[in-house]
Amino acid sequence: MRAIEQDRFGGPEVLNLVEVDRPEPGPAEVLVRVHAAGVNPTDFWHRATGGLLGQPVRLGWDLSGVVEAVGVGAALFRPGDEVFGMPRLPQAAGTYAEYVTAPSRHLARKPAGLSHVEAAGLGLAGLTAWQALVDVAGVQPGQRVLVHAAAGGVGHLAVQIAKARGAHVIGTASAAKHAFVHGLGADEVIDYTTTDFAKRLHDLDVVMDSIGGEYGPRSLRTLRPGGILVALASPAETYLEEQAAQQGKRARFMIVEPDAAGLTSLAGLVGTGQLRVEVDTVLPLDQVAKAHEIGQTGRTKGKIILTL
Ligand SMILES: NC(=O)c1ccc[n+]([C@@H]2O[C@H](COP(=O)([O-])OP(=O)(O)OC[C@H]3O[C@@H](n4cnc5c(N)ncnc54)[C@H](OP(=O)(O)O)[C@@H]3O)[C@@H](O)[C@H]2O)c1
Repeated sequence: MRAIEQDRFGGPEVLNLVEVDRPEPGPAEVLVRVHAAGVNPTDFWHRATGGLLGQPVRLGWDLSGVVEAVGVGAALFRPGDEVFGMPRLPQAAGTYAEYVTAPSRHLARKPAGLSHVEAAGLGLAGLTAWQALVDVAGVQPGQRVLVHAAAGGVGHLAVQIAKARGAHVIGTASAAKHAFVHGLGADEVIDYTTTDFAKRLHDLDVVMDSIGGEYGPRSLRTLRPGGILVALASPAETYLEEQAAQQGKRARFMIVEPDAAGLTSLAGLVGTGQLRVEVDTVLPLDQVAKAHEIGQTGRTKGKIILTL
């Protein structure tokens, strides 16, 4: 099968198209024929530095495809089932490949209303938004929720999820993307290039921050007492937990985890028309370097997807 591999860290040019053996599903695993694989900033980080894993790995955590074979004991799926998801993270999943094995409970059935290209953009980014807003922050109807980078892969799904939970949603984005973010259901959109959100907003219940750096402490300032900041950008942000506590607020740094129940909830929102996936760019697998070059500009609207 064809797959993308790298034998050293570096820029997009280290990514090579190679021919490798097709994997076999182990116990409780399925073998998926990948139709589309999502591209995420964590892919750029792992390509360049090894990220959480410290060594070059086959990249890619997002997939949508069709079950080709089931390992012993993987009782949930049969060959031919359409699935999507985000297997194995924080271990390598290697979805930049024609076939991939995954623990069966790291996947869920692909919503009928999404193409493989769209579903490949929902796993990692959708689970991040779901776990941050629903599991960690526990967003309630009527709460005021700030979503930073509201036009991005995670942000555009977070806006829709928070709306579906009945929240009042405020997003940050540059002016050219305001119509898009309003169209997702955001009640207010702040142009972060001209307006200091930390001066404009106060008494928020929840902030989801994927930007990091000084956005963390500035976001804390916008929370009400007892409000919560979910930080996503860097493990270094655990320092915010103590800083928040000193202000009578809460902060949590979170890493997204495989989560079939979360995937099923996301699929449910797709089914009720409350969640859609914006696709910025679609490229074939052999143009993975171009996909990374576009993605690491940090300016995309929605998701970048590789097709196989
Ligand atoms: N902890 C975890 O488990 C986890 C999981 C997923 C992602 N993340 C992290 O979250 C971050 C975002 O991921 P993503 O997939 O959403 O990235 P992405 O799709 O590349 O985000 C691109 C978007 O970010 C917006 N943006 C850039 N700088 C901004 C700023 N200062 N204020 C507001 N918006 C800004 C851009 O809008 P403009 O063009 O308008 O600037 C663009 O639409 C990454 O750092 C990623 O590593 C962490």
